Amino acid sequence: ASGCKIGPSILNSDLASLGAECLRMLDSGADYLHLDAPCSSGRHFVPNITFGHPVVESLRKQLGQDPFFDMHMMVSRPEQWVKPMAVAGANQYTFHLEATDNPGALIKDIRENGMKVGLAIKPGTSVEYLAPWANQIDMALVMTVEPGFGGQKFMEDMMPKVHWLRTQFPSLDIEVDGGVGPDTIHKCAEAGANMIVSGSAIMRSEDPRSVINLLRNVCSE
Ligand code: DX5
Ligand code: ZN
Repeated sequence: ASGCKIGPSILNSDLASLGAECLRMLDSGADYLHLDAPCSSGRHFVPNITFGHPVVESLRKQLGQDPFFDMHMMVSRPEQWVKPMAVAGANQYTFHLEATDNPGALIKDIRENGMKVGLAIKPGTSVEYLAPWANQIDMALVMTVEPGFGGQKFMEDMMPKVHWLRTQFPSLDIEVDGGVGPDTIHKCAEAGANMIVSGSAIMRSEDPRSVINLLRNVCSE
């Protein structure tokens, strides 16, 4: 895919230094930031908690208006955070299809709040369920690990979903998330992903800039 974008995931960074970590990624050439936000409220969608909209608001203040914030909302009731995240400065609201009974209303609400719409599916969810919404969203997120934690093994058997979406919806942004790094980027690029989330492969590298460049170059070949 030409023009791949690389979005580091900060889930595995030092969350006590989140602002500095985001800056480090932007200085290293990140195209956008993938902010994993399992919020602390009610029933959790995943067995992990990072941060919510107050932290996003602080990040926006610290980082300025330019960086694109892709909020990966791993929450069980995504409806309730749309407005707070928009006000806090999120650019894109990526929710899980599994977490809502009414994707159509949620998509509309996200747009009315001025954000782009991302729709994510877990590894166990068939891409057929996402297809009916594909023309109404900006980005489809095909999870390549079970959501919740960084540093897991890439699931190559998710690639047919990416490939199918790319064939059916040529201009849709397609994001992959989980276990993506120098060893697995080829598969993602080949399948047609153009928004590449990478957490530990970038975060744990001594030279994040070169990893980001490598991912972008392979993907844009
Ligand atoms: C997993 C998160 C990912 C994760 C990716 O629940 O959605 O964004 O941080 O990290 P890596 O690249 O280490 O798998
Ligand atoms: Zn994520």
